[in-house]
Amino acid sequence: MRPPPLWPLLLLLHLRAAAPADSPSQLPAPRNPKIWLYNTEQVLSWEPGSLSHEVGPVVYQVQFKYPSSREWSDVTVSSVGVNCSKISVTECDFTPTSLSRGFLRYFNVSLRVRAELPGLPGHASAWASVPWFQHYRNVTIGPPGHVWVTPGEGSLVIKLSAPFNIADPSMVTFLYYVHYWEKARNPQVKGPFRDSSIVLRDLQPLSEYCLQVQAHLLWKSQDLSRLGRLSNVSCHVTSADASTKLQRVVLVAVATFLSLAGLAGACVFLILRFRGLIKYWFHSPPGIPAQIEEYLKDPAQHMLEALDQESPAEDDAWESVSEVSSSEQEQRALSRAEGAPATL
Ligand SMILES: *[C@@H]1O[C@H](CO)[C@@H](O)[C@H](O)[C@H]1NC(C)=O
Ligand SMILES: *[C@@H]1O[C@H](CO)[C@@H](O)[C@H](O)[C@H]1NC(C)=O
Ligand SMILES: *[C@@H]1O[C@H](CO)[C@@H](O)[C@H](O)[C@H]1NC(C)=O
Ligand SMILES: *[C@@H]1O[C@H](CO)[C@@H](O)[C@H](O)[C@H]1NC(C)=O
Repeated sequence: MRPPPLWPLLLLLHLRAAAPADSPSQLPAPRNPKIWLYNTEQVLSWEPGSLSHEVGPVVYQVQFKYPSSREWSDVTVSSVGVNCSKISVTECDFTPTSLSRGFLRYFNVSLRVRAELPGLPGHASAWASVPWFQHYRNVTIGPPGHVWVTPGEGSLVIKLSAPFNIADPSMVTFLYYVHYWEKARNPQVKGPFRDSSIVLRDLQPLSEYCLQVQAHLLWKSQDLSRLGRLSNVSCHVTSADASTKLQRVVLVAVATFLSLAGLAGACVFLILRFRGLIKYWFHSPPGIPAQIEEYLKDPAQHMLEALDQESPAEDDAWESVSEVSSSEQEQRALSRAEGAPATL
């Protein structure tokens, strides 16, 4: 059965009458306050108190405290960078942005929240608290932001980005572990790696490997290590290893050498076979038709001239001709000297 509409007002009057004006304990407190710490996210959330939706619109006040300070402080734009004073939503988001700075990640922070009635100052619920936290101590680390895998020779080259940026790397660092397995084999773990560039060596060439990468947050001064979440599974086939590659390189080199040698041999053969023709092409002066014309007019003389111009080989031939003729002349002179008849 629904309560009559007047019921909230009656409840309020009752609260007023029953409690002293400065007692805040009568409004139901927010329930199940929780702090969500994931990578850089810092969000406090809660549920409305059991009656608060019936007593009218309530607003919430969030306060924080460091161990060094005695007093609680309101979460305001000037104190933490966000306005969580007199808010009607049931969460307060401290996550650092360009506008808000959030809580420093190594600070020890305690938080509490209560409900208040906006029009009735002094009417507030009890405080609901979350346990103290330090971001780096309590945070849940996500998987690496990106994982790029390049298959290598019997290896996998992994490049990854951190789950989130660390502002103070001298204090806190990420270490990485790689979980990997060949199909139907047991997973293996390699790490820790400090570098965001990792090479998995000694893998079978031309085999499929699956892998997941995990970041660990290491807080040196506190000797504290937080395990991150595993990245999604990704699978890759390694390429041929060095010896297989070397074989291929040698084969290609030998084949290239053999074909070049064959080509060179063919060239030499052709040059030898058609030496005369090639000489003719390369040495003939450009005016061939005119020469041929003259040659046709007086074949014998132009043949000799042409031969004279041509080459040493033909010069030799010409010399031998003159030698022959000169020795003929000598023979004739000799036979004349011996008194032999000049005509035979
Ligand atoms: C953080 O502060 C709380 C009290 O405010 C204290 O109990 C706790 O021990 C502190 N934690 C660390 C790690 O200093
Ligand atoms: C904070 O937010 C509430 C609700 O949005 C608003 O009423 C209040 O004026 C804000 N306070 C400041 C200081 O801006
Ligand atoms: C943070 O971690 C400490 C112990 O490591 C624990 O006592 C505390 O309750 C945690 N805080 C939260 C909000 O979970
Ligand atoms: C992992 O896979 C889930 C669903 O398969 C997807 O929503 C998520 O974005 C993936 N994460 C990364 C880092 O790729």
